[in-house]
Amino acid sequence: MQQDLFAANASEQAERTDWRERAAWLSSEINRHNYAYYVLDAPTIPDVEYDRLFGELLVLEKAHPELVTPESPTQRVGGAPLAEFTQVMHSVPMLSLANAFGDEDAVSFDRRVCEGLMLERVEYNAELKFDGLAINLRYQDGILTQAATRGDGETGEDVTANIRTVRAIPLRLNTLLPPKVLDVRGEVLMYRADFDRMNARQREAGQKEFANPRNAAAGSLRQLAPRITAQRPLRFFAYGIGALDGADMPQTHSGLLDWYVSLGISVCNERAVVSGVDGLLEFFRQIGAKRDSLPYDIDGVVYKVNNLTQQQMLGFVTRAPRFAIAHKFPAQEALTVVLDIEVQVGRTGAITPVARLAPVFVSGVTVTNATLHNEDEIRRKDIRIGDTVIVRRAGDVIPEVVAHVPEMRPQDAREFAMPSVCPVCGSPIIKQEDEAIARCSGGWVRCAAQRKAGLQHFASRKAMDIEGLGDQLIEQLVDKNMVATAADLYRLEQPALAGLDRMADKSAQNVLNALEQSKSTTLARFLYSLGIRHVGESTAKTLASHFGGLDALARATVEELQAVPDVGPVVAQSIRQYLSDPLNLSMISQLRSAGVVWAEGEPAAAKPQPLQGKTFVLTGTLPALTREQATEMIEAAGGKVAGSVSKKTHFVVSGHEAGSKLAKAQALGITILDEAALLELLQKSQ
Ligand code: IVH
Repeated sequence: MQQDLFAANASEQAERTDWRERAAWLSSEINRHNYAYYVLDAPTIPDVEYDRLFGELLVLEKAHPELVTPESPTQRVGGAPLAEFTQVMHSVPMLSLANAFGDEDAVSFDRRVCEGLMLERVEYNAELKFDGLAINLRYQDGILTQAATRGDGETGEDVTANIRTVRAIPLRLNTLLPPKVLDVRGEVLMYRADFDRMNARQREAGQKEFANPRNAAAGSLRQLAPRITAQRPLRFFAYGIGALDGADMPQTHSGLLDWYVSLGISVCNERAVVSGVDGLLEFFRQIGAKRDSLPYDIDGVVYKVNNLTQQQMLGFVTRAPRFAIAHKFPAQEALTVVLDIEVQVGRTGAITPVARLAPVFVSGVTVTNATLHNEDEIRRKDIRIGDTVIVRRAGDVIPEVVAHVPEMRPQDAREFAMPSVCPVCGSPIIKQEDEAIARCSGGWVRCAAQRKAGLQHFASRKAMDIEGLGDQLIEQLVDKNMVATAADLYRLEQPALAGLDRMADKSAQNVLNALEQSKSTTLARFLYSLGIRHVGESTAKTLASHFGGLDALARATVEELQAVPDVGPVVAQSIRQYLSDPLNLSMISQLRSAGVVWAEGEPAAAKPQPLQGKTFVLTGTLPALTREQATEMIEAAGGKVAGSVSKKTHFVVSGHEAGSKLAKAQALGITILDEAALLELLQKSQ
């Protein structure tokens, strides 16, 4: 008996080991095929065979859930939908690239680099400028633990659940000795053929089609339901690095990319190490010639100084490195006919003439409208209704009418006449002498177009961030007179919302929840969301920290406003005017009674400013403070926080995984503080 039991246990044990081995084998086989297909672009087995392996692993894991590992390929199908994306602070900011629009710009770039390095000739790594979206992949001890979008460069959105579904991205690095932390940076994109197939499927299912692969990739990644992302054919190419801990940084950019390849990370093959500007331009021409035959969209090539020490020596200007540049292909142009010229009314009443065009395909999208900027611009280019025109679209910018083709002008071409009254509200259109822009004088009280644009701005991401309150919904709310001002939004009720076109109980509730959530905000966001002319995001931030509270700002005179950094007479006047209008003041007080709140600080001006004139640079992760908190504390004491180290930097605050900035600070002999020393300095200066 005893013996039998033992035998049964042993065989069960053996069987279990078998399953485990089988599951591990299936996982590694599937991962190998994924790698061949998505990274090497060289499929190794027919789809049916892949599906069979995958099916077997699914069945096995279902029967024995203990076999499921986080890196199992079955875990790429996507988990439960998220309520929202959380924010992620990048440990090293994600910068952008400066652009070169022609060979001359590339020549000057090379000249600046040579001068900066005091060299005759510099080695570069030349690669592609992918037209997708930037992502940071964090691997901890070799396991993918977090993925974040670029966002504003400092903070992005946590899209880990979605990224885990992307088969071109390894869930585990292919090494026995992984670094403790590795931030891989690169671009998520979609191949054109995959995009076409996906759009065909969307069409058949009666669902929204995407305009181009870039939008499709972005839309797929910003899905709250990872299961949907899992069905989207996303790819990835690595081109950079953020934090690195526990491994030596390669000496060159090309060496970094080779290292990535060895780790199983997807890197594009279209890259070359070249010497001097002639090497750069040759690469540009070669890629230009094969651009259309590449399976994905690119909008140029990128040149990077290859030696990473040289990169550090060159450093950064505000938001972009000095050691790299994107050499863009010329914008794409097409010919089409101007069917009509209409005017659009913006948030501040600005009237923009827009050409309605016969649909035309330009660099991947069908263009039907193009901005004509203002009346003077139409006269200067002599654009008439009926003209055949050149339309240009570059990257993500709004399509533009470049010129008309004189030989193709029909006899009955009509000149555009600026209307004297607003087409939406009938108020007179007025053009100030010193301004190029004509404006509807109705203001938001009279003009529905201004109300709509103002509400769109109020709800937008960088303002009150009211998710689900999109343009079409705002259109209906204004047209049906359900909402006139931002304050009315917070009075909306479920039944009325649910009764609108394309709305249902659930979507109405979602909008109400988003409105509720938006109520706790910051003063800077609130100020920005008001849409005061000339008060953009950064002015709003400065005003918020200078005055600390709304009441202090509302009381400020034009002179006091002008004492704020970056606020000139025009901006000061505009703020004063906005905050003197009883209608605006009443709306603000309604918003506050509706529950819109923010934490008010002390006015900066009233506090001592011991760090006035001192510039700080933060690098690495501080033990207790986030970057944002440290920045706030320094700024509150009157100091400034800059992005890169230069001779003008007074202090570098250095934390864990500090990178090139620390090295540069040491080289320049700048005072380096750790968190404790920073806190001491702040304390002392109080
Ligand atoms: S490097 C410090 N390399 O272009 C430099 N960026 O304007 C950081 N991009 O947000 C970027 N291909 O989305 C780099 N080979 C490439 C790129 C590339 C596309 C995008 C990226 C970034 C933007 C920078």
